[in-house]
Amino acid sequence: MKPAKLHCWILGCFSVALCCGCTSDQFLLRDSHSKSWRKLYLAHHWPVTVCKMSANDCQDPPEYWTIHGLWPGKAEDCNRTWHFNVTEIKDLLSDMRRYWPDVLHSSLNRTQFWKHEWEKHGTCAAALQILNSQKKYFGKTLELYQRVDLNSYLLKAGIKPGSTYYKMTAIKEALTSCYGVTPKIQCLPPEEGEKAQTIGQIEFCFTKDLELRNCTEPTGGSERMQAGLQLGTGELSVCNDTLPTYYPSQVQGHK
Ligand SMILES: *[C@@H]1O[C@H](CO)[C@@H](O)[C@H](O)[C@H]1NC(C)=O
Ligand SMILES: *[C@@H]1O[C@H](CO)[C@@H](O)[C@H](O)[C@H]1NC(C)=O
Ligand SMILES: *[C@@H]1O[C@H](CO)[C@@H](O)[C@H](O)[C@H]1NC(C)=O
Ligand SMILES: *[C@@H]1O[C@H](CO)[C@@H](O)[C@H](O)[C@H]1NC(C)=O
Ligand SMILES: *[C@@H]1O[C@H](CO)[C@@H](O)[C@H](O)[C@H]1NC(C)=O
Repeated sequence: MKPAKLHCWILGCFSVALCCGCTSDQFLLRDSHSKSWRKLYLAHHWPVTVCKMSANDCQDPPEYWTIHGLWPGKAEDCNRTWHFNVTEIKDLLSDMRRYWPDVLHSSLNRTQFWKHEWEKHGTCAAALQILNSQKKYFGKTLELYQRVDLNSYLLKAGIKPGSTYYKMTAIKEALTSCYGVTPKIQCLPPEEGEKAQTIGQIEFCFTKDLELRNCTEPTGGSERMQAGLQLGTGELSVCNDTLPTYYPSQVQGHK
């Protein structure tokens, strides 16, 4: 484990950029849906781990964290008549393919994953004016992803995929010290006979004003327990702080 020496010089720009141009009336609620939730989770997943969880053969999963989704804390399937329409996001498609790929079904119709995310989560997020269309929802998610810039931060912290095992607390501390908030980190538990868990998902939490916030509730209430991938055979769960953590660099590299 390398010491996580961090260079947080971008952070200043980050906080400013996130709030540039915000005026409070942009965030007025459109309807009552959003009253039931208070935060949005921006979930990144690690494609190599996603592939490992699935019986599918993934071909060359990207070796960078990609978007899983942007999820309101406590609501799903809020408007079953508001169907996904890929034409609405045609201007975003090249970024969508690159940063929000369907890791498991890259050779099939890749819009299925986006359709699922929109119908389950986007229709709920759309209660916020700033996210109230497909173009806004997917576009804003891509924007948050680029501003969080997780891939660069991990590299700067010396946390790289490969054969090293990391301490979960070290990964957490590195991220927390850089972002000023604690993300939620999920892992595949060790397989039988193994000691290490495998990192799979990192979720950052945002307020309804799209500012970073802690994922944990200050009051101790837990708004939302699980957002596992339903696509694979394994199950992600919150990482165990005490287990060594594997950050795999390729599917074949580890069994
Ligand atoms: C659900 O979506 C449809 C289509 O966009 C819209 O006409 C309708 O007003 C929405 N319903 C609610 C409750 O938001
Ligand atoms: C999809 O969106 C496009 C562009 O907004 C629109 O022209 C088209 O009618 C929509 N298709 C459906 C089935 O709603
Ligand atoms: C992919 O799915 C969309 C919407 O579900 C559909 O309109 C399109 O024809 C599909 N494309 C292929 C290649 O199956
Ligand atoms: C997140 O929590 C930590 C302590 O748990 C606190 O120091 C920090 O100020 C919090 N950040 C925000 C943005 O609330
Ligand atoms: C974490 O792993 C250790 C060692 O396997 C185990 O004793 C402990 O109960 C686990 N903690 C949780 C919260 O699962």
